[in-house]
Amino acid sequence: EIDRSLVLIKPDGYRRGLTGEVLRRIEAKGYTLVALQVTSATREQLAQHYAEHEGKPFYEPLLEFMSSGPLTAAVIEGHGCIPGFRSLAGATNPTEAAPGSIRGDLGRDWGLAVQQNIVHGSDSPESAAREITIWFPGIAS
Ligand code: CMP
Repeated sequence: EIDRSLVLIKPDGYRRGLTGEVLRRIEAKGYTLVALQVTSATREQLAQHYAEHEGKPFYEPLLEFMSSGPLTAAVIEGHGCIPGFRSLAGATNPTEAAPGSIRGDLGRDWGLAVQQNIVHGSDSPESAAREITIWFPGIAS
């Protein structure tokens, strides 16, 4: 069984022209792109995607930020790609993310209500299956 993960290149990554750089790192790592789409997230997609964060102080700013422009959704494939992509992404807080990681190399703290940290990656096989359905209905996870 080959693992699949859902990756989002968030609106900050899109605005900053980092989409190609993130995809380059995914491919350079050896993962395969199996689905890719530039899209504008609906409120329903974001509410489903971030259901576990509902009620947290950053929830509404997070949904607002994620609605602030186009984002890129991707399904990537490869053994170990779920923890592997999270390792490529680095820590949630870009200030703490290690250099060499996407957030460590390309991200910073902008002093805003929500961490604008360029990418999202699924944190477990269960999350990946759930998230792939949200962004790519019709694709088997
Ligand atoms: P992500 O991995 O997509 O999941 C939830 C997102 O909320 C996270 O990336 C950040 O963009 C944001 N986030 C998580 N924790 C915080 C926090 N403590 N303060 C602000 N934003 C956060």
